[in-house]
Amino acid sequence: MRVIRSVKTMQRLVAKARRAGKRVGFVPTMGALHEGHASLLRRCRRENDIVVLSIFVNPKQFGLKEDFAKYPRRERDDKKLAKREKVDIIFVPSVKEMYPEGYLTYIEVEKITKVLCGKSRPGHFRGVTTVVGKLLNIVMPDALYLGQKDAQQAAVLAWMVRDLNFPVSVRICSTVRETGGLAMSSRNEYLTADQRREAAVLYRSLKEARQSVIAGNHSVAATIGKMRSRIRRESSGRIDYIECVAADTLAPLKRIQGKIIIALAVWFGKTRLIDNIIVRA
Ligand code: PAJ
Repeated sequence: MRVIRSVKTMQRLVAKARRAGKRVGFVPTMGALHEGHASLLRRCRRENDIVVLSIFVNPKQFGLKEDFAKYPRRERDDKKLAKREKVDIIFVPSVKEMYPEGYLTYIEVEKITKVLCGKSRPGHFRGVTTVVGKLLNIVMPDALYLGQKDAQQAAVLAWMVRDLNFPVSVRICSTVRETGGLAMSSRNEYLTADQRREAAVLYRSLKEARQSVIAGNHSVAATIGKMRSRIRRESSGRIDYIECVAADTLAPLKRIQGKIIIALAVWFGKTRLIDNIIVRA
């Protein structure tokens, strides 16, 4: 397993592998790796000759009041997990390597970045699309692996890949959860033991909503209403949003029909958790 910190070396290495006819798969992350990341790496390993993992806590996707400084950084543990998952190359650039002085260029996907998390995190997706666009130019992969856990991020990046003709296929992998149902996230470690227990209500409420849609309830208001009261009743979480949107366009729905995503963001103390579920009505 090679650890690469320079953009030029990374590009040279991948170009050589591609010339040799190797298929390159890529998993971008911000590190503090857990089983969610591992599941992406495993699928990437099955489907490619060369597995590239990037670890980069991207300052451009954090708001001024967000947790960039305290975001967990654990390169040693991450390397162990990467080795276990048979990663070939870890790309770990510094902030200066990615954004040298005088950096001016950004990628912005319109419209679908303004709903859901885009409302409470202005500029967030611009940071995500910019860094992933850069990483695609550096790693030049055949396939890009993303998690359904961040449903809006996956939709936005798929849209960017399509609009800007990045020659890569996007693979979305299902959400990995803890035993209680809480979606795995590097941010879960900010939670107290009580908050962690309470946060399991998020997935319970999503599953209950899915059941009720499958049973024939197609009212968005009723679905969201039930989720709201359940989360309020069973936890101290403060709801940022709960929404039903079309799975492809993320357009808000009045009535539930077709393939939809029920998505939520809820604060537990100072930690904002997101989760979602796909439902076919
Ligand atoms: P990060 O939060 O580290 O997540 C990296 C990838 O792992 C993302 O595609 C995310 O959706 C996926 N992932 C995280 N938790 C998961 C879980 N429980 N189950 C399945 N997949 C999961 O998302 C980012 O980093 C950044 O925004 C990034 C895309 C790297 C750009 O900086």
